[in-house]
Amino acid sequence: MSATFSPVLLDALRNARHLLVFTGAGVSAESGIPTFRDALTGLWERLDPAELATPDAFAHDPALVWGWYEWRRKKVLAAQPNLAHHVIAELVTCVPRLTLVTQNVDDLHERAGNTDVIHLHGSLHQPRCSVCGQPHALHSDAPIEPEEGRRLEPPRCVHCGERVRPGVVWFGETLPEAALNAAFEAARDCDCLLSIGTSGVVQPAAMIPQLAAESGAVVAHVNSQSMTVLGPRQVSLVGPAGKVLPALIDVAFG
Ligand code: OAD
Repeated sequence: MSATFSPVLLDALRNARHLLVFTGAGVSAESGIPTFRDALTGLWERLDPAELATPDAFAHDPALVWGWYEWRRKKVLAAQPNLAHHVIAELVTCVPRLTLVTQNVDDLHERAGNTDVIHLHGSLHQPRCSVCGQPHALHSDAPIEPEEGRRLEPPRCVHCGERVRPGVVWFGETLPEAALNAAFEAARDCDCLLSIGTSGVVQPAAMIPQLAAESGAVVAHVNSQSMTVLGPRQVSLVGPAGKVLPALIDVAFG
């Protein structure tokens, strides 16, 4: 990819007082984690998360839903952070303040070195009781060969005996209030936002780049496909995040 970047973006990055990094499934694609909506590799192609990622699906067939999330969790455990995750972790040292907001339920940002990651859609690694809400410790953490489509009975809560559920946000559920408020506050406050590897179609998370732009921030969309809906002070950087981000950071801070 070309290492020519918009001077507006480079200035915004170099002078950023508060940089907001907002990530989606595309940032983990180069670690081998399937995205949700990309043709051929997207999870939507083979399985239908819209039908599995709901409270109704869990009530109707808990073993199917738990098995699907365990398959995804094992896939993440077997994966490693990629260059994009590492560059985002390095960015913390380049700007006075960085907030990292992710829609991803994996822990690859943390494993690359970021702390205080705001997870808007929860985490695969923090299951909880579906009734009393108590966190549940998972003991089968060894990275094993993931098995797609395996049905698995969810464990039972040690406090109340009810079924444990994945610690993620399902369709029809509200996002964790504190995380959403912190993300919106950062969007209003930041002067530069990097939106990386997200299709921007799932609300309310998708409002974050727009809110930042409306509040005066320069917004860059890093995506393997060109992003069409762009306003003034928004740029599209087309290419895999693992290539675009190192090049951008090298030009801006190298
Ligand atoms: P999507 O699968 O909707 O979008 C992934 C985006 O990443 C697409 O726009 C791809 O073009 C882009 N992409 C793929 N590979 C890339 C790469 N190597 N570098 C850069 N970009 C790449 O994933 P999200 O936008 O994260 O919600 O989806 C949002 C939410 O929809 C998810 O958090 C999930 C899902 O329903 C819940 O589970 C609640």
